[in-house]
Amino acid sequence: MMTIKIAPSILAADFARLGEEIIRIADHVAMLHIDVMDGHFVPNLSLGYPVIASIRKVTDLYFDCHMMTSNPDLYIDNLVEAGGNLLSVHIEVFPDPSAVHRKAIDSGLDFGLVVNPQTPIEAVEPFVELCSQVLVMSVEPGFGGQSFMPEVLSKAEQCRTLIDRRGLEVDLQIDGGVTVDTAPQARSAGVNVFVAGSAIFGSDDPVAAVAGLRKAIGG
Ligand code: DX5
Ligand code: ZN
Repeated sequence: MMTIKIAPSILAADFARLGEEIIRIADHVAMLHIDVMDGHFVPNLSLGYPVIASIRKVTDLYFDCHMMTSNPDLYIDNLVEAGGNLLSVHIEVFPDPSAVHRKAIDSGLDFGLVVNPQTPIEAVEPFVELCSQVLVMSVEPGFGGQSFMPEVLSKAEQCRTLIDRRGLEVDLQIDGGVTVDTAPQARSAGVNVFVAGSAIFGSDDPVAAVAGLRKAIGG
């Protein structure tokens, strides 16, 4: 069975106190989910490499970099230098991700693919072998604090089935609207990595929020 992991999304953290917010939860989570947005692939801006490099100075946590950008392949060296670990790119940006995968791996990064709510699993199906993680979006990317879309659960289930059928060790991640109420549904669909922004950093006690999520999914 794949390890259950909680991946706090720093998008919901207080950026003026980002270091402190990360240090507070660091011992309680497996990785940090970092949402990079370019105002082009998604209608919002978030943060980029200088911020990633700064937070790398305060933690050794695994950095799961969710690139909601139109040309993440052009910035792989910057990401490596800043301390990123996983390059997660949208299949909508790279219908054939072979080249960007090669570039990521050659640069020492792990590689992941992301599917938007409207994109069928068939889009990533031929490329799952390239991935250490597949991310099924449970909101339209671009903003934190949106409601979980239960209609993506069947897609998550399809994805877990095809990962298992091929005997692969690929993490299945869900991102958007994850709470103590929605995480168990995703867990039942075979998800093992849970991104949560508002549910963790929006809480008065982020450490307790992580524990609550873990309890809800039996991890
Ligand atoms: C949305 C981002 C998410 C976001 C999740 O585009 O990919 O990672 O931070 O936020 P919540 O958990 O608040 O839905
Ligand atoms: Zn994300």
